[in-house]
Amino acid sequence: MLRGKNIVVGVAGGIAVYKVVDIVSRLKKQGANVYVIMTHAAANFVTPLTFREISGHPVVVDMWTESTNWNVEHIALANLADLFLLAPATANIIGKIANGIADDMLSTTIMATKASVILAPAMNTNMYLNPIVQGNISKLTQLGYHFIEPGCGSLACGTEGIGRLPEPEVIIAKVMEIFKGKNDLVGKKILITAGGTQEAIDPVRYIGNRSSGKMGYALAKVAAARGAEVIVVSGPTHLLPPSGVIVNYVESASQMRDAVLAHYADSDIVIKAAAVADYRPQIKSTDKIKKNSTTLNLVLEKTPDILFELGQLKKHQILVGFAAETQQLLDHAQEKLTRKNLDMIVANDITMPGAGFNVDTNIVKLLYRDGHMEELPKMSKEQLAGIILDKIRA
Ligand code: PMT
Repeated sequence: MLRGKNIVVGVAGGIAVYKVVDIVSRLKKQGANVYVIMTHAAANFVTPLTFREISGHPVVVDMWTESTNWNVEHIALANLADLFLLAPATANIIGKIANGIADDMLSTTIMATKASVILAPAMNTNMYLNPIVQGNISKLTQLGYHFIEPGCGSLACGTEGIGRLPEPEVIIAKVMEIFKGKNDLVGKKILITAGGTQEAIDPVRYIGNRSSGKMGYALAKVAAARGAEVIVVSGPTHLLPPSGVIVNYVESASQMRDAVLAHYADSDIVIKAAAVADYRPQIKSTDKIKKNSTTLNLVLEKTPDILFELGQLKKHQILVGFAAETQQLLDHAQEKLTRKNLDMIVANDITMPGAGFNVDTNIVKLLYRDGHMEELPKMSKEQLAGIILDKIRA
């Protein structure tokens, strides 16, 4: 399963570093390409040469020394990684990541990667249980980082308790689990809308909104990774299309409607994460409008409500909508759920920092057709995508 996968192993300074040599060796034996980044502290426990021999690749310790035959910067390894494993994850490196500190090769690379990151903490029991460390772990967990609980037993500091680096078998099993993922959406066709629409005023200007497409693309990425056939109907965005996903680009609400209807009949699940303009100029000027007067009156007309139409046409499909609200979140979301004949609506209160438009995280409440509601904590949009898909499958 690991054949050809690029795994970057980050090694921070702790007595458990010697165990990571075995982990790197096991990953190699499973066919992975393993690249090791060490902190200077880690290099005091085991030399980079050891990891170089085991991994078969030069080991990066310093950001500033450039090797003659190995010119790799943090961005290169960050982009290359299919998975990032941090072992041992010390209180120091966990604290740095949780607080956005990137001051060495390891922390900088982790900050720059978009790959899944597994952290295997190992430290003294009191340090591990310190509320500051626990707070950092909980913050990172909510942001989608994966943690492996440390083992219990006698520690290098002479005490007994939780804090041992988990056994290599446990760490390798977690790596496998991340790569294996779930394959529960094989055979399902999922139609996802993403981004905002643009409604032309003239050849230069348009009415738009702040949607980046991040929520819709996160859903598409996770659904594809779980085996679904995924079609994304996307408004203009700077995001790269997730691999294995067909993207149908549109600009306006009416183009989005046509594209969505073309795929609707044979879709099993439709998730409308797009922020569709509710109004568009009644007349699109064919020429650029000149600044001849101090005011400009635009007459706006309603755009087609795509989701409402899907709700009317619904047969076997599961329909999921989103609602971005600044007030009376639950009332407005409930009204949309009912009126648009949805199975679920994802309600984001966009007044909360870290929720809604153009951020990597979201804070939502899930409302269901049967009247029950679930409140979720702040988490990455990818993590939320996984939960939404879990709920649809349930
Ligand atoms: O793209 P990001 O930057 O990651 O931001 C994510 C998001 C905030 C855009 C997303 O999470 C979100 O909330 N999308 C819905 C935005 C919204 O305000 O929707 P709405 O309340 O106007 O519409 C409710 C539902 O009807 C939505 O599923 C929408 O796609 C759909 N709709 C709305 C109007 C319309 N004319 N046609 C529709 O299909």
